[in-house]
Amino acid sequence: MRIVLLGAPGAGKGTHCKRIAERYGLLHLSSGDILRRERADGTGLGKKAQGYMDKGALVPDDLIVEMMSRAMKNASAGFVLDGFPRTVNQAQVLDKALEAQGVSIDKVMNLLVDDRVVVDRITGRRSCPACGAVYHVKNMPPKADGVCDKDGTRLVQRPDDTEAVVCNRLETYYRQTEPVVGYYKTSRSVDDIDAGGEADVVAQVIFRMLDPLARKKK
Ligand code: AP5
Ligand code: MG
Repeated sequence: MRIVLLGAPGAGKGTHCKRIAERYGLLHLSSGDILRRERADGTGLGKKAQGYMDKGALVPDDLIVEMMSRAMKNASAGFVLDGFPRTVNQAQVLDKALEAQGVSIDKVMNLLVDDRVVVDRITGRRSCPACGAVYHVKNMPPKADGVCDKDGTRLVQRPDDTEAVVCNRLETYYRQTEPVVGYYKTSRSVDDIDAGGEADVVAQVIFRMLDPLARKKK
């Protein structure tokens, strides 16, 4: 299966893409996670991306398209995309690249949340720099305070998870990324999902939509 999960910052893309990837055996490709790895490794791409990310702006399309094309080469078993495409141009390039391979996206899902929820979720998020597991100080706390359940690594807060940067990220989302939903709606159905409820409940809604598709693809 090839799935695209859209949604504003903090909508739960990372949380649900992880669950989708595990349930259906797909590669979880998060453009944000890849960029953070590039930054941690001090690569040229990481250095170029840093200033944009810290301001809550988008990294230029040419850098992202090249990075994601490389990442998608290992995705023959299918993928779930998280944070990409994020501009209409990125979506068009992705459609063309898949078309050239004789395949297409099977499902586009759009996670919907209120902006007030976004700020609370993002400022309370903590993540594991080693395995990428995501927690929330109130909503999904780790078993031991500040430590990853899976590997015991000390959890960190993303540098772009401050209230001021979140506001810029939301503004960027409405200006540059929300039009991607409209782009997809012109050529296929997009499933809008109320992502404001508890994560387990949202996951059940997503699985109910994807299970029949997964059965068909077997
Ligand atoms: P990216 O890392 O993609 O950030 P984002 O889109 O802002 O989204 P987030 O990761 O903040 O939120 P999420 O939807 O994954 O939510 P999560 O599941 O973690 O991008 C970062 C930056 O990289 C961008 O600003 C840009 O600069 C650059 N970039 C990336 N891709 C790019 C591209 N394609 N083009 C150009 N630039 C690009 O959940 C958030 C929190 O809420 C967590 O704490 C979680 O535990 C909690 N939570 C989740 N669901 C629930 C729930 N249902 N109930 C309660 N709590 C919940
Ligand atoms: Mg994320």
